[in-house]
Amino acid sequence: MSETPTSAKRLIAVCGKGGTGKTASIAMMAQALAQAPSTGSLLLIDADPAMGLVSALGAQVRRTMGEVREQIIRTAKGGKGEAKTKISNMLDYMVFEALTELDRFSILAMGRTETLGCFCPVNTLLRNGIETLSENFDTILIDGEAGLEQINRQVVRRLHTLLIISDPTSRGMETAALIRKMVCDDKVIRCERLGLVFNRVRGNEDLLRDASRKLDIDLFGLIPFDENVASYDLIGKPITDLPPDSPSISTWRDIVTRRVLAPDGARQ
Ligand SMILES: Nc1ncnc2c1ncn2[C@@H]1O[C@H](COP(=O)(O)OP(=O)(O)OP(=O)(O)O)[C@@H](O)[C@H]1O
Ligand SMILES: [Mg+2]
Repeated sequence: MSETPTSAKRLIAVCGKGGTGKTASIAMMAQALAQAPSTGSLLLIDADPAMGLVSALGAQVRRTMGEVREQIIRTAKGGKGEAKTKISNMLDYMVFEALTELDRFSILAMGRTETLGCFCPVNTLLRNGIETLSENFDTILIDGEAGLEQINRQVVRRLHTLLIISDPTSRGMETAALIRKMVCDDKVIRCERLGLVFNRVRGNEDLLRDASRKLDIDLFGLIPFDENVASYDLIGKPITDLPPDSPSISTWRDIVTRRVLAPDGARQ
């Protein structure tokens, strides 16, 4: 299995217990990254079949990678030898067709890519397609389902930064501990930087700092519960349009500068 995409300078993914704020974190990080010159070109991949990121951004996508994949399967079933050549020729075009370019970044939605039966060669083709695409981007953010399995299986096996998003609950931290084990002991996925972010924090900062030490995961930051996020969510406004001085965005800007974009050795 190829390890992809590796050509982008920075590949960043989030994981953690369900509902901890992974999707909101990606959207807030995207806003913070979009303002930093060293981010370069930015791609957001929504790897959650529920496509929460696409809706959190208020974006519309023409096609998902899942739909591209279905088309590949149909083409492969329809033809014999020549179908393979046809598919390779179509793939780059189809992947680019699934890409939606917005003002500050582009977005690619995976959609539903699971069907019964084994379509491994198709997945490999898709992975290659995404690799082609990622050559055009300097920074890629990946939003996934809860847990690590999907990120590992579908999109990437090697990351620059993996952010575990936890809420201030013991269950959130239990999931964080499991993910740490999967990464550090079982080496399910390779990443250069592993960080913990507590989200929707309302007090108890010292307890959370202690918890991160016990978990033995580098604490990247504490994102406050932000009324702006809650009200944007309520009225369906894109989180990427949050006022830049919102408390959550300011903290993400700090994490992005000190932990994500800073070169090795310059992190604090
Ligand atoms: N810092 C914050 N302040 C206030 N509300 C927040 C904050 N971060 C996230 N939320 C809210 O918490 C809820 C869950 O967030 P989100 O959908 O991002 O979680 P998730 O981890 O992606 O969920 P899932 O596991 O279902 O994909 C949303 O209603 C979101 O608006
Ligand atoms: Mg989500």
